Amino acid sequence: MSRPAVRALAPYVAGTSIEEVRRRFGHTRIVKLASNENPLGSSPLALAALRSADRLNLYLDDAHEALRERLGQREGLQAENVVLGHGSNEIVNTIAQTFLDPGDEVVMADPTFSLYRLVVSLVGALPVEVPLLDGVHDIERMLAAVGARTKAFFVCDPNNPTGTVLPAFAWDYLLERLPADVLLVIDRAYAEYLDTPGFEVAKVVRGRGNVIVLRTMSKAYGLASLRFGYAYGDRESIDWLQRVRLPFNVSRPAALGAAAALEDRVFLEKSIALNAAERSRVTGELRERGFHCYPSGANFYAVTVPIAAHEAYEALLERGIIVRSGDALRMPGRLRVTVGTHEENDAFLAALAEVAIGEGA
Ligand SMILES: Cc1ncc(COP(=O)(O)O)c(C=O)c1O
Repeated sequence: MSRPAVRALAPYVAGTSIEEVRRRFGHTRIVKLASNENPLGSSPLALAALRSADRLNLYLDDAHEALRERLGQREGLQAENVVLGHGSNEIVNTIAQTFLDPGDEVVMADPTFSLYRLVVSLVGALPVEVPLLDGVHDIERMLAAVGARTKAFFVCDPNNPTGTVLPAFAWDYLLERLPADVLLVIDRAYAEYLDTPGFEVAKVVRGRGNVIVLRTMSKAYGLASLRFGYAYGDRESIDWLQRVRLPFNVSRPAALGAAAALEDRVFLEKSIALNAAERSRVTGELRERGFHCYPSGANFYAVTVPIAAHEAYEALLERGIIVRSGDALRMPGRLRVTVGTHEENDAFLAALAEVAIGEGA
């Protein structure tokens, strides 16, 4: 019954859950460093707002004008430049539904966030995947892959699964050369952790048009379960997305929680500071042990292991530590590990020392 594109689909694989590890191994203490979640929990202001959520019997005002205006202001843009989603995943899917026809080509990196390939293939469009260069988007080769059938160009920055970031000169290079009729999609799920933004969102939105910049509250605000994402873009691109997205895609609790989290500078700054300090400490220690880590601008890092990645993953799982195997992320020989609390990171470092001894990888 299903369409051929559905039958050919490699389904999205999420990180292993705490419940699954508990079932398999019976551990009481499990450290989950697999899905780039916030180790400090959720914004307390968001949690307080959620406790007072009411009127759930009513459909809400689906325009979310005030919230979109507030999000727009943060980048010097307006409500008309903002669309909301049930997580930024939903917006990635809506982009494919809105802009791609069968046979259209979409240029993207390899490896990058696996959802892009999935949603593009589902609508019959073709992912054109360009290998990373030293773990970073190879913008020159990606631009060379743009042809007459190219409809969209995806950049994930910081890139999932490598954590790598494009330098400002690469953004300038890309923005000068990408043809104006190609939709530029920039996934900034980890934007809050960046030291420098690399480009100015408002300048690109106003100057270029045909651009969508994806953001989420799943990471630095600790609201992955709430499902709230948003995107900035030129008015026309946002208008098309607004037409295609499902009615009421953002629930009242999600909108309430997101609005409150936006005011929570204390939680945000604490999350960013912990991440910066621990990322530097752990990757520093791993490098000293001889493991290679790509420089990361996100809340995770990609580290080499001297044994097969899936073996290291399994051996860590047995010890109650959940990470992602690079084998499942088109990044063989590496693990993708979320930056946790000091104690969680120490638990990972200790378990890794048992599993794989550094050997100048
Ligand atoms: C690059 C990237 N984009 C989007 C998402 C999804 O975010 P959301 O929870 O907002 O759907 C993730 C989640 O891991 C991600 O890594």
